[in-house]
Amino acid sequence: MRLAHWKRSCFFIAGFALIVSMKTMAAEQGTEIAAQRIGYGNPVIGKEKSEQGRCQECHGAEGNSSNDKIPNHAGQYAAYLSKQLNDFQSGARVHEIMTIMAEDLSAADRADIGAYFGGRKMMQGEAVGAKPLAVNLFINGDPARNILPCVSCHSDNGKGRVAGNVVYPVIGGQRKIYLRSQLVNWKLGERNNSPGGVMNKIAESLSDDEIEALADYISGL
Ligand code: HEC
Ligand code: HEC
Repeated sequence: MRLAHWKRSCFFIAGFALIVSMKTMAAEQGTEIAAQRIGYGNPVIGKEKSEQGRCQECHGAEGNSSNDKIPNHAGQYAAYLSKQLNDFQSGARVHEIMTIMAEDLSAADRADIGAYFGGRKMMQGEAVGAKPLAVNLFINGDPARNILPCVSCHSDNGKGRVAGNVVYPVIGGQRKIYLRSQLVNWKLGERNNSPGGVMNKIAESLSDDEIEALADYISGL
């Protein structure tokens, strides 16, 4: 009887310790991801630079744009934002406004501005009535058409991740019209800057209805 009680206490203590250590691990993982989102730039300087550089006028003071065609940056990986700015500068990605806006930014400017936006509260959409077609493509892809599941790269709810040298951007909660335009651009080959052309290959196989449904669903995550 005593022994059983003692054993139960032991289990209780072990269980408690396990929960505590799991919580610590989750917290550490969270901190690691938060640090990855900010990268090596200085977010305080980045805030000033993004204000002076007029980025906030379009992308929002907290990184949430109020125009459906202008992407949110809130919680986006700094390394992804910086890569895009670099691509606008080199011509690997072309856009009438952003090509001009990115022109004069130094590597430090890109990292600092990225750090500021990456550290903002994560973009969050309002859940919309998800079409099963979109949910299925997002989670399972379509092996028959070589469409890989979006979630396999862009992670749960499309909140992005870093693996090796590749940054998979946050797409969950991104502006709907922006998402749709990027998928169309990848499909038509008007945007070509993803590593190994991966997004072109995926978007090529998507129909216009599927793109519409995916943009709708993902913007609500
Ligand atoms: C007049 C509005 C406007 C201003 C000002 C502006 N942007 Fe943009 N930005 C846009 C639009 C529109 C796009 C979407 C481009 C596209 O459709 O390809 C964009 C896209 C981007 C992207 C790519 C985001 C992604 O998810 O791929 C980055 C990074 C960016 N802007 C950073 C900046 C920075 C940094 C500044 C300030 C130096 C800035 N922008 C100023 C309108 C603006
Ligand atoms: C094999 C990995 C992979 C898969 C699977 C994948 N993506 Fe991507 N996606 C990427 C990478 C990498 C980028 C960043 C490209 C760059 O650096 O410019 C990207 C970028 C994007 C962007 C542009 C985001 C922005 O802010 O401009 C959209 C939209 C997108 N993906 C949607 C999707 C959808 C929808 C699916 C599923 C049908 C999907 N992706 C599946 C790797 C993937």
